Amino acid sequence: MSMTTPNGPRWIPVATARDEAHIGQVVEVRGWVRTRRDSKGGFSFIEVNDGSCFGNLQIIADSELANYDSEIISLSVGSSIVASGTLQASEGKGQSTELIASSVRVLGDAPSEFPLQKKRHSFEKLREWAHLRPRTNSFGAITRVRNQLAYSVHQFFQDEGFYYVNTPIITASDCEGAGQMFRVTALPPDKLPLRDGKVDFSKDFFGKPTYLTVSGQLEAETYATSLGRCYTFGPTFRAENSNTSRHLAEFWMIEPEAAFFELSDNMALAERFIKRLLADTLGRCADDMDFFEARIQKGLLAALTTVLEKPFEHMTYTSAVDILQNSGESFEYPVQWGADLQAEHERFLTEKHIQGPLILYDYPKTIKPFYMRCNDDDKTVAAMDVLVPQVGEIIGGSQREERLEVLLERMRQMNLSEEEYWWYLDLRKFGTVPHSGFGLGFERVVQWVTGMTNIRDCIPFPRTPGSADF
Ligand code: 4AD
Ligand code: MG
Repeated sequence: MSMTTPNGPRWIPVATARDEAHIGQVVEVRGWVRTRRDSKGGFSFIEVNDGSCFGNLQIIADSELANYDSEIISLSVGSSIVASGTLQASEGKGQSTELIASSVRVLGDAPSEFPLQKKRHSFEKLREWAHLRPRTNSFGAITRVRNQLAYSVHQFFQDEGFYYVNTPIITASDCEGAGQMFRVTALPPDKLPLRDGKVDFSKDFFGKPTYLTVSGQLEAETYATSLGRCYTFGPTFRAENSNTSRHLAEFWMIEPEAAFFELSDNMALAERFIKRLLADTLGRCADDMDFFEARIQKGLLAALTTVLEKPFEHMTYTSAVDILQNSGESFEYPVQWGADLQAEHERFLTEKHIQGPLILYDYPKTIKPFYMRCNDDDKTVAAMDVLVPQVGEIIGGSQREERLEVLLERMRQMNLSEEEYWWYLDLRKFGTVPHSGFGLGFERVVQWVTGMTNIRDCIPFPRTPGSADF
């Protein structure tokens, strides 16, 4: 069955219908009822939303309509309808047009147990209805902003001459070496093949232990050291038991990798990238961003606009430790050279000390993965993290160790097996070049740009410890 009546009015998105350029036209809109109120004068005002923009379209249904008493007067929140009629100028607040309906067809009604009635629900409650929350204002706005960010990611890297490369999701190599990988196996849990009392993974699907990837970086390096510049944009998985507002077990990461880039080129790329994401979102999602400013975080727009106007600050890890130690703040975790910075330290630096994005670089090598390039001081590596207010670390990256001997020595110190990384080492044996890259946590950017307090609301279906519903 076709939804379109032959020679019937043109079906247009609500976003188009809200534009006063279309006043006087006979059109059709399709969407879901957000509210309905009835006037004493024999009219119903139906607000309909179809996801095409933040705003609704007001539909004015006259009691003369054939199904007024049987359907329209009892039309409930959440019902789906097709309405056609003439667009006219509206006096109403927040809208320049409204539709005078000549017909309102109900496709599916929504009984009163529809959970998203007009009352506001907490974000915690909405997580229990992750299948319906996209019908709320907040999740409509988050979804459109996330979509814009994804689009801008591709536009930015394409403009910069990077190729989009897909790296594997199932992998045998641990990139970050933090031991937080989810195992992938096809072995029957009740009949595990054993050898010397241990599970014999040579009998498993791939003939060896395999995992869900924590990062596509190592594979991306192979393409960067062949084609020059590439980037990945895919899901990554970490089995870290962190129940925080900034951690997911499944999250999306963008990982550019570029040959002949040194750390400073990498930092400059990261800054251009972040600024492009912000500028596009502020420019192209203005209504959604106004909502976040009004309802989620006061001052958000001004803060993001300031980021665009100023160069990012840069600071070595060593100076950051100095600043933290002399800050007079009482932190929960002690600050000492050689220890990883905690969220509270990062937030102090970016929110109080700098009040904007901050690139920290040259971290102690003992707290960073094997692939980072050793600095001449033999104590630090050419690592860089980008920290932003509210969220903390959104980017982690580095210049990679391109010197075979130095890399091998580092791997020996860290007890990593040369055999397992043979192909990674080949990149240094055959035509090695300096190269660099970073990983941007996609949901962390969504979180920063929208001002949302919890990362679980920045991805459609969050996966966190103890929770993989939907
Ligand atoms: O700093 P990370 O661990 O860096 C890497 O994985 C490198 N291999 C990237 C590279 O150089 N190509 O992770 C990169 C970013 C972090 O800065 C953070 O934004 C995000 O990924 N991230 C998470 N986001 C949500 N939930 C988690 N559990 C995350 N862990 C990291
Ligand atoms: Mg990191």
